[in-house]
Amino acid sequence: MRQRIVSGIRPTEQIHIGNYLGALRNWVKLQNQYECFFFIADLHALTTEKKPGQYTEGLARTFLATGLDPKKCTIFIQSQVPQCTELAWIFNCLMPVAELERMTQYKNKKGASPNAGLLTYPSLMAADILLYKAEAVPVGQDQAQHVEITRKFARKFNQTYSQLFPEPKVIFSEMPELMSLANPEKKMSKSEPAGCLFLSDGQKQIKTKIQKAISTEAGIKNLIALANAFGTNLKPEPNNYVKFKNKLAQMISEELLPIQERKAKIKNIEQILEDGKKKAQKIAQETLREVKNKIGLCLFQ
Ligand code: TRP
Repeated sequence: MRQRIVSGIRPTEQIHIGNYLGALRNWVKLQNQYECFFFIADLHALTTEKKPGQYTEGLARTFLATGLDPKKCTIFIQSQVPQCTELAWIFNCLMPVAELERMTQYKNKKGASPNAGLLTYPSLMAADILLYKAEAVPVGQDQAQHVEITRKFARKFNQTYSQLFPEPKVIFSEMPELMSLANPEKKMSKSEPAGCLFLSDGQKQIKTKIQKAISTEAGIKNLIALANAFGTNLKPEPNNYVKFKNKLAQMISEELLPIQERKAKIKNIEQILEDGKKKAQKIAQETLREVKNKIGLCLFQ
């Protein structure tokens, strides 16, 4: 039997190239080797977006346009499998607050009066993963700590009640951390759009951003890493970056434009998400029933 993997992406206005290189493009390969559950993490998005639902359909289209095949993997919307929030509550009651406060993502937001969802973000993420008893989770480096704490949730549950959850491992994609094109000392981030490539960027935008990219040593190193991520070992000639940058912009466009074209033509999105929801719910319900039995929550079942 194939091993099962689970992963998700938060729906936001623009999908960053890192989501594509670090997650989506890797998932397309993994769907041939694993039993895959891929979802749109709209409940997680709610920690930072007021109305993430408006981006859900676009992201679902992006999943398909990139090459995810609903015959090979299950694609669904997180909020349509409400069992995850129920399990997250149970997980909340197993984890000391101090452990959650130590998470980097939370610590980085601590100054800005974060909502409680940002603190308990890992409980929901662990629930997303463990509801399906996934053996592995394909994510970028930035999510490694979340998978590590998921293993801890599994251990705590298994020790407190009895063995139920496997401890999932991480599957990293081969992707370097991308730095901002406008400021290569900082991570590429949506909050600084001039230095960030988006999956929806057209030929012109890609060209402008790459041409304007800072050409310090760190900047060029970042562009070479980007070229590598796009599958070439393109390198600049000494002190002549124009040709290199033009070629790089062209290569990125050649990979992204067909995805954008396919995205506009995707049909049956509703049916695909409906089928995915049913498949995901079936497993989720069964796991949650086991969880409640082990805890002894349901006396008369
Ligand atoms: N936290 C992930 C991110 O920001 C999204 C996510 C939510 C996820 N639940 C998950 C990823 C479960 C993997 C598995 O990208």
